[in-house]
Amino acid sequence: MDVSVIGTGYVGLVTGAGLAEKGHNVRCYDIIKEKIKDIERGVSPIYEKGLDTIIKRNIGGKLNTSMNLQSTITDTEITFICVGTPSNQDGSINLRYVKNACKEIGSILEKKKRYHLIVVKSTVVPGTTEEVVIPLLEESSGRKAYRDFGVVMSPEFLREGVAVEDFLKPDRIIIGANDKRSSNHLRELYKGFNCPILGVDIKTAEMIKYASNAFLAVKISYINEIGNICKELGVDVYDVAKGMALDHRISKHFLNAGLGFGGSCLPKDVKALIHRAKEINYEPRLLDAAIKINEKQAARMLDIAREKTGSLGNKKVAILGAAFKAGTDDIRESPVHPLIKGLLREKARVSVYDPQANNNLKEIFKEKISYINSTDDALRDADLALIVTAWAEFELLDYSLMRKPVALSRYQLP
Ligand code: NAI
Repeated sequence: MDVSVIGTGYVGLVTGAGLAEKGHNVRCYDIIKEKIKDIERGVSPIYEKGLDTIIKRNIGGKLNTSMNLQSTITDTEITFICVGTPSNQDGSINLRYVKNACKEIGSILEKKKRYHLIVVKSTVVPGTTEEVVIPLLEESSGRKAYRDFGVVMSPEFLREGVAVEDFLKPDRIIIGANDKRSSNHLRELYKGFNCPILGVDIKTAEMIKYASNAFLAVKISYINEIGNICKELGVDVYDVAKGMALDHRISKHFLNAGLGFGGSCLPKDVKALIHRAKEINYEPRLLDAAIKINEKQAARMLDIAREKTGSLGNKKVAILGAAFKAGTDDIRESPVHPLIKGLLREKARVSVYDPQANNNLKEIFKEKISYINSTDDALRDADLALIVTAWAEFELLDYSLMRKPVALSRYQLP
């Protein structure tokens, strides 16, 4: 099938390259020209295992890029909206990219004679597709949803770090549609995927995504809360978690006590759900608690560091890892931000090494910290090492390079 993808970030690019890998003709469009130029050269603008390989294999064949939205929409039959949905200051969802994309797509649909299907893949709070996306598409195209064009909300569940694998072999595909034609059209595209496909209405699809992310966030904050209690009681939370995980109803996943959750999804999605719940006069106490517990974990790491080294002022601190998890260069909402801010406030001398994310961090902290290119150089003469990201190369560190080895890992926190 002929598919276009609007927004070539972590989700859009993996979706585009993944669908090309499955044999569809894909056109990727983004407003950032540099990203498009990289993809055209067969290079991924983001670090994600296996992504370069499938881009290289398909570029110029099944996978193509475009800086012309008109032909991108006109020449394809399905368009995925994969633009970002960041947080506003108050935690509510910021829909400016989604709204712009809808207006632009709608103005092109106005002239398109053939049926076209729009798929919302960006994470949007329940009600957004029906109350914002569809009205904007109808207004800018002068056409009627479900009659002249189709609409599906199909949330994405990929995990950064293993995004290509998750996209190609998903646990499930959710198709949120209010009409048969839209839903059948997308089912046709997903024919080559071997997983359960659940059909629901649009608003339910939107909620499944939030309910899933909120559950994972609560699970992490739950084990962190247990870990914080364990620490006071002199119990090892990692043994406790092992014992819990043997119960298949609990499972070992997302049961790692430590620095808490970060990334571009869990924090912002839980905050957006909290905000939406409060708008409809529901007090989401559990979700509020999950965020509050999470926000305290980085400060706990600094508390423990102070207990071990005394004042942090003028201490040389090596931070190992900046990405919010191993396998990605994404530093959005990574615990590295509060850690660095706290250390700089206390006038520590901070150096950072991350195998993939140094450049992204440089854009935020610039000259305030030193950027190092290897674990050994980061550890040399350091007073304290904080292991923030669980990169495999941090499992074998030469602590003898430090002045007096004091190291705290993200997984030895509680
Ligand atoms: P991102 O910020 O990496 O990428 C968004 C892209 O959209 C950027 O390249 C931006 O330039 C482009 N863009 C913005 N407005 C545009 C427009 N009008 N036309 C064309 N391109 C435009 O975002 P990411 O991480 O890929 O997330 C996208 C959506 O998917 C968000 O709603 C996010 O919550 C959701 N999601 C993200 C996951 C992740 O692991 N990153 C996983 C599951 C869902």
